[in-house]
This record gives sequence, structure tokens and C-alpha cells, in this order.
Amino acid sequence: MCGIVGYIGMQEAYPILIKGLKRLEYRGYDSAGVALIGDNGKLNVYKAKGKVAELEAFVRDKDISGTIGIAHTRWATHGEPCTENAHPHYSSSENLALIHNGIIENYSTLKSKLQDQGFSFRSSTDTEVLVQLVEYIQQTNQIDLITAVQLALRQVIGAYAIAIIEKQHPDEIIVARKSSPLVVGIGKDEFFLASDATPIIEYTDQVIYLEDEEICHIRRGKELKIVNLHNVEKKHTIEQVTLSLGQIEKGGYPHFMIKEIMDQPACMMDCMRGRINVEASNIVLSAIIDNKDKLLSARRFIIVACGTSWHAGLIGKHLIESFCRIPVEVEYASEFRYRNPVVSEDDVVIAISQSGETADTLAAVELAKQKGAFIYGICNAIGASIPRATHTGSYIHVGPEIGVASTKAFTGQVAVLTMLALTLAREKGTIDEDTFRTVLKEFSRIPEQMQQVLALNDKIAELSKIFTYAHNFIYLGRGYSYPVALEGALKLKEISYIHAEGYPAAEMKHGPIALIDAEMPVVVLATKNRLYEKVLSNVQEIKARKGRVIALITEGDTVMPGIADFCIELPDLPECLTPLISTLPLQLLAYHIAVCKGLDVDQPRNLAKSVTVE
Ligand code: F6R
Repeated sequence: MCGIVGYIGMQEAYPILIKGLKRLEYRGYDSAGVALIGDNGKLNVYKAKGKVAELEAFVRDKDISGTIGIAHTRWATHGEPCTENAHPHYSSSENLALIHNGIIENYSTLKSKLQDQGFSFRSSTDTEVLVQLVEYIQQTNQIDLITAVQLALRQVIGAYAIAIIEKQHPDEIIVARKSSPLVVGIGKDEFFLASDATPIIEYTDQVIYLEDEEICHIRRGKELKIVNLHNVEKKHTIEQVTLSLGQIEKGGYPHFMIKEIMDQPACMMDCMRGRINVEASNIVLSAIIDNKDKLLSARRFIIVACGTSWHAGLIGKHLIESFCRIPVEVEYASEFRYRNPVVSEDDVVIAISQSGETADTLAAVELAKQKGAFIYGICNAIGASIPRATHTGSYIHVGPEIGVASTKAFTGQVAVLTMLALTLAREKGTIDEDTFRTVLKEFSRIPEQMQQVLALNDKIAELSKIFTYAHNFIYLGRGYSYPVALEGALKLKEISYIHAEGYPAAEMKHGPIALIDAEMPVVVLATKNRLYEKVLSNVQEIKARKGRVIALITEGDTVMPGIADFCIELPDLPECLTPLISTLPLQLLAYHIAVCKGLDVDQPRNLAKSVTVE
């Protein structure tokens, strides 16, 4: 949440900063701002409420000169979204400007102390407190900026990725991080900084991922210097980013979300590439090979995640328990971290996170590590905080996900969990060879099955027009399809603002059935499996109360079309693989309903892609 970007070098900073903000806008988009030290030496700060486009319009007649600058796109935590609360924040003397992603938890204590010293504040943010604190320390001790930042950050409790510039020293930027991501890009005679690598890759593929409590002193034309809060110099490794520009652009689609839905067959192939070999009937997940003993001796698995990743975790539980016969608990990371959970050295904790930056999941990982558990990460963003905090893990390799509603990351996570469960089961001897071969063969065909389902796009777009009237939706599924029902409901809520709930189908009788009337759309996951007859009875119960049923069925089913109002046919697959397919029509349904309602699909209200605050 919140995107930060910065530049220092020989080029004009403003165009680089604005482009960077647009790439980071998925992280938050309620206000935006930029600070530049202009050619005349003036520190200019411009801010606007709303999206980056509003900021661009606002600065049209302003001085945007300068080869050094920092910029920010905000997702409000402290203080409502408005121009005053937008970043960058000035210090009182207007000598410093600072941008921040994170939360200063003790900001009110720090603010009172500064107010006692006569400081006044323009905004109600925690960030302004930090910039004022840095200035106060700098002025009272007559010290340079980096030392003042070190001293200030030692007083801060919370999370931060910050960048700060000083009017009197237009050749340097100070950046620092703790629990919020920050990447520094190294070009030729120029440096970039950003919350992730996407604004940087156009200019350089050489980056440094800062570690917690590291401060980077960036000076024009000089070597970078990284120190900790106590001024001890830290070694840094320059890494190469492999991300391409094409991966972070829309490729002719009107929204990132539909591009990412449509990309899923290719993403599946990327996720499987080099890992599965159907002829040899083999799966190679290097994390499992390298840590076989630890994983095979696990007493139980605990999956920690949030949101969509948590739904993938529920499918992981089914997969691991049925194939490996190891008990699995699935926890919301936010609950796990504050519950003093019972975790021991015999436990393996699987942390699932697309962004690899979710604050609660990261904290759950750290807690489980302290308690001696072995941590396995399933992440998408390469080099993010969670994969770096885990003992081992498998990337899902689906490429950057930019639409705020998660789509291809979900299927990538489920694919990795499938490979993990099958591999461990074979190692443990809890799966027979025939089953392993059959499931692996069918798994390898998922990309083509996905293609077949995505060909239903036009049909689903038509269907969606009928349901824009709805204020509520119910999603029902059983077994492997129950988490899919939850995920379908979450997608609809997020982007169409229609209230939707997912339930295990049999739970309907225990309450939700009271909601069914002729207005209520009910999406039922009713593919052919051992529970099909039971789901059929649930559909009969809904129809008896005049509910409108959209059923996802297996091709060739002749019974359900006679009962449900609308049917979407899916290819026949082993039950454990159906989530990889049945999720797609639900993503499309949510997408088209939101488009029909004229909503901002890629940047739905109040949401942010990367939840780096709790
Ligand atoms: C839903 C969605 C969120 C994320 C959740 C966890 O579409 O995107 O629910 O799944 O915030 O994010 P990650 O996976 O980045 O940890």
C-alpha cells in the first residue's frame, strides 16, 4: 500500500517519477504527489487528491524542472484522503520533503513531543511527524541529514519505506526501510528508487533490495553507501531483475484484470515449466528435494495467508491431507500472529502470498520462525520480503499481477500446492503410482483446459448483463469447490461492490436459505464428483424457493440444465484439479458484472494490491 518512487541523475526527474507512479498506482490511488528540487534550487512540492492523472493535470502550469525528485501514490492509513494528507510532506522550514509507505505506530507520542517544542502540523498523517522529527533533530544537533534520519528512525515504532530530499543538498537522497519494501535501481550516473522494481526496469536491471533498518545514502555521481541505524556500514548485493516491460503492460486488453485472467493458460505453463515431466512421470520442486527430511518428518502443516491466498491455502489443505495424510491447518495470518499459537519444531509453516509483502503474513512467518518451525514460502514477487524471510519455497512464476483483484496468482498458488502435495505424497508412499500418473497427466493438460473455459468469455459477458441488478449473491460449493465458492464471492465483492457470500453448499440449510427469493442469484459449483447428487439436491431446494441458479457443471451433464437457470460447462477433470478450471468463469463473471456497472475494475475503491500495513 502506497507506492514510492524517486530519481537522481542527469535526466529530468518529473517524467520518470510520473511514469513510475502510474506503474505503482495499483498500490494505492487516493492521492498523489511529487517533490522536485528545481533548476533554480527551489524545493517544489505538488499534490492532488485522486489518481495520478489528477496530479498531472494540477502541475500542468507549474515548474517541474529538476534532476532530483521523489513521488508518492497514497492509500490512506492515518488521515482521510485529501491534498493536505497527500505525500510528500514538507518539514516546517520547507527544507526537507519526505515520502513514506508504512505506519508510524507511535506517531501521536512523537507528535505531542514536537508540539511541545513549538512545531505545528499541516496534515493529520503519521508521515508529517517523521519529517518534522528529522528536521528537529537536525536543527538541534546541527548534524547532517543522514545522521538525523538515523537518530529519528531509532525513535520510530512501526513500518516504513521512506525517501527524503533536502533543498540545501540537491545532490542526495536518503532512503530507508523497515517492514515495507524498497528497491534501489542503479543506472549509469543515475539512481532510481521504488516500492517494487516495475518503475525501474525501463532504465536498468541492476537493483539492490534494502534490508530492514538499512539506510541508503544515494549521491549524484557517487557510489551508494548503506548503513544501519547505528551508522555501521552494511555490505550490499546487486541483483539482476528479469522482469520485462511487456509483462507489466496491458497488451491490448482494456484492463489488467482481463489480461491477467486470459494469461492464465500461459502462466500455468510458466509455473509448470521445468518442474513436471509427464513421460518420466516426475515432478521436480527443488525446494522439496533440498529439504526432503524436514518436510517428510513434519507433524503437521500450518498454512498462513490472507484473502485470495488464504482461499488457495484451503485448497492446499484438501490436497495435502488427501494425498499426503498429514494434518493441515489453514490460518488467517492476522489471527495467527496475535494468538500465541502452538507451533513447534516439528511443524512446517507454508506462507502463501502473491506480493510477498503482506504485513500480516510476514509477521506470521517471523513468529513461526521464532518458535522453531520450518517455513516454506509460495510467492509470486521475486525477491520480496516473505520469500527472503522463509527457509525455502517455490515461486509461482505467473509474472507480475497488477489488477488489484487477484486472478492468475490464485491459480498459480493452487498449481504449486498441487505439485507440492503430489511430490510429498510420492516421497511418503501415500499415493499409488496409477493415481500419481493420472493426476499428473491431467494436470499437464490444465493450460489447454483453461483455454477451453476462457473461450466462454463472450457467453459469460452476456450472462453478466442479466445480473447487474443484484445487490446480493450467494456462491455454493463442497469439498474442493468450497474455497472456489469463497474466492468467486470475494472477486465479485471487490470489483462490483455487490455483497456476496460463499458457503459450503450443505450449510445453506442452516441459515442462508432464508435469503433465497426470486431476486437472489446463486452460483453453484456442481461439477460431477462424489458429492454431485447432494449438490443437485441443494439446487432443487434453491429452485423450490425461486432462486436464480447459475451452475458450473461438467460437460455432458444432462440433468442440471433441466433445473438450473443458466449452466456453464467445464471439462471433465479429477476432482482435485477442478479448482484450477472452475475459478476462471467466476473471475470472468465478476469482471463483466463490474464492467457492465461501469466500475473501475483494476483499481476498485478502498483496496490496494499490496497490504503492507496491518
Ligand atoms: C483479492 C486480493 C487480496 C489478496 C490479499 C493477500 O483479490 O487480492 O485478498 O489476496 O491481500 O495478498 P498477498 O497474496 O499479496 O499476500
